[in-house]
Order: sequence, then structure tokens, then C-alpha cells
Amino acid sequence: MSMDLLVQRLEQLQHQQLFRRLRQLDRTTPQVEVAGRPALLFCSNNYLGLAEHPVLARAAADAALQYGTSSAASRLVSGTLALHDALEQAVAAWKGTETALLFNSGYAANTGCIAALCGRGDTIFSDRLNHASIIDGALLSGARLVRYPHNDMQALTRLLEQDQSKGLKLIVSDGVFSMDGDCAPLCELVDLAEQHQALLLVDDAHAGGVLGQQGRGSVDLQGVADRVAIQMGTFGKALGSFGAYVACSGLVRDYLINKARSLIFSTSLPPAVLAASLAAVRLMQTDEGERLRGQVAGYSRLLRGLLQQQGLQVPDGITPIIPLVVGDAETTNRFSTRLLEEGVFVQGIRPPTVPVGTSRLRCTVMANHTPEQIQYAAATIARVGRELGVC
Ligand SMILES: Cc1ncc(COP(=O)(O)O)c(C=O)c1O
Repeated sequence: MSMDLLVQRLEQLQHQQLFRRLRQLDRTTPQVEVAGRPALLFCSNNYLGLAEHPVLARAAADAALQYGTSSAASRLVSGTLALHDALEQAVAAWKGTETALLFNSGYAANTGCIAALCGRGDTIFSDRLNHASIIDGALLSGARLVRYPHNDMQALTRLLEQDQSKGLKLIVSDGVFSMDGDCAPLCELVDLAEQHQALLLVDDAHAGGVLGQQGRGSVDLQGVADRVAIQMGTFGKALGSFGAYVACSGLVRDYLINKARSLIFSTSLPPAVLAASLAAVRLMQTDEGERLRGQVAGYSRLLRGLLQQQGLQVPDGITPIIPLVVGDAETTNRFSTRLLEEGVFVQGIRPPTVPVGTSRLRCTVMANHTPEQIQYAAATIARVGRELGVC
């Protein structure tokens, strides 16, 4: 009976063109094999191409040989290694914050922090297009969740003014929106947070390493880093490793160590991952990091420009994430499948990841693409788009 229900639910997903399946890649470089088929990779978050960087790989391999393969406990039990402390100090120095605290993933950071900071009687103001991990953290917290229209600061102002509660207020926003590639208006968000004595959490998962001085993120680019209470970032995207951090005050760090259940009740990151992340944070602050950021910014401009010249509706922007909104899930699926047949891998993104009616191709560029690969991708996307009547 229960199994039948699962079958029915899966059939419904299939009927709605929302069924998901895993596709195997051989690696995360620009040229990959997707389920055995050669293709150019245009949907990875490996924005700077660091996931196969020899310095990171060597650091990971050396740490595994020297310290073993596991931390073997939560950090509060016996799982805090010298490498955890070293990485937190490096992150805090890089981000210019008092302290930093590691989490096992961005998902664990958002759910853990939000549910630790807020509870019954508190209110969370969250952008409608925030990442699922933020929504899940808010639901887990039991606090009142108020979702404001995307980047609409007038609406947020009204909602903050209407809020009569006496509890803690948390405003939370992606710094760069993961499926749209646009940036949050952080200057206005910090002003509003200060006016309404709210905490502000910025999820810079897609900005860390890519935007701002030395890749310190959108908070740095918009000059508000010292006014954001909690900056969250990940190591698994531009930094080419795995895991996440929050950069914050010592007080917030102490609070989270005592309250964040995803930190307290989970085995901590292993030595190889910590060492790769540490190497990545150091690399961010070198000329090579600067060069890679310049490269990926140039490729973002190039791909956006080429697609726009071909009549495709892609927005201007400064991030490596370039959305091409198709609309319905079925056409999006066909678009992605046809592109793969033509040697370009771009994943179709469908509800619930994006709102109904805005299914899209989420194209991303990497610093180690070549101009020829970008040109091939743009020409192929435009040709297949015309074939499907999308442009
Ligand atoms: C905006 C945003 N926040 C958080 C996460 C979760 O990060 P992680 O993949 O490290 O769990 C993601 C990942 O997709 C993301 O896009």
C-alpha cells in the first residue's frame, strides 16, 4: 500500500515532466563525458576551475596520508582537528571578520544557523528566490516565515514595518541568486536590518571566490562586509573543495557552537577536505586567484553577449550564472537533451527548484573554458533553441 503510493507519486512526477535522474560525469573539467558521451560542461559551479587544481589535489592527498581519512566524530566530541582551527582562522583573515565557523555543507550551514538563531516567537524575512536550504532552515526553526518578493526592498520595508512581534528578526538573502545569477541589493538590506534591529544573514555560496576583492564575495563588492552579521559561504563551488563556513563575530560563533544542531550532531569535515579548502582560501589571495576571477568574468560577458546577439533572452550580469528561461518543463527537458546530443551539457532546471512556468537552462562558465568552447556553446544553444521554437 505505502509502496503503491510511492509508485503513484513518481508517476505523477513523470507525467508533469518533473522526474529527476542522476547523470554520471567522469570529471568537472570543461571537456567531460556525460554517461559515456563526450560533451562540453556548461552547468558546473566549478567557476574557477579549481576542482582539479594540482595544488588543492596535492594538499588533500598529503593531508590524508598525514592525518588519515576521517575526523571520526562531531567537533564537540573529539572531532576538532588542528586543520579545522587553521581553516577557520584563514577564512576569518580572508573575509576580515572576527571569527569563522565551519559546517559540513552549505545546506548544513543554512539549516543549522537559521534553526539555531530563530525559534517560536521570532520572524524570518526571506527573499522568495532564496535557496532551498534557507527555506528548510526557516521551516525547521518554527519561527514565523515571511517571504518577500524577489529583491523588492519596498515590500520588505512594508513587511518589517507591519511586524509587531517582540522576538528576534532575521533577514536572510542569497548574495548571488543561484538560479538567476543576479545580486541582492545589499546596501539596502543592511540599512533595513539596522533600522529594524534585525540580524542579516547573507548566503554568498555563489559569490565567494568570484566577486569582490580577493574573491571575498558580494558583501565585499557592495562594500557592506562589516555590516553583515552572518556571512555564509561554501567551499564546494568556486573554491573547488567541499563544505561551508560562516564568517561572523565571536559571539555568534559561540552561540552557533552551542545551538546549531547540524554542527553538534554530525561528524566534522575530514582532513583531506580541510586541507584542500585551506589551499583554496590561500589561492584566492594570490595573483592566480585574481587572474582566474578576471577570466571567468570575461567569459560571463562573452557568453551573455553571444546569446543576446542570437536573439536569446538572457539578462546582463556579472556572475558566471546565465539563466535562459524557457518556461515549461517539457520544452526545457527537450532543450537539455538535444544540447547534449550536440555535445553541450547544460542541465534543465525545473520546479520546485524554480517557480512554476520559469523552467530554464542554467548555463555557467568556468575560468578554464576556452573562447572557442564558449562560441561553440552559444552557437549550439541558439541553433537548438530555434529548432525548438524557443527563440
Ligand atoms: C545559494 C546556495 N546556498 C546553499 C547551497 C548549499 O551548499 P552546499 O552545496 O555546500 O550544500 C547552495 C548549493 O547549491 C546554494 O546554491
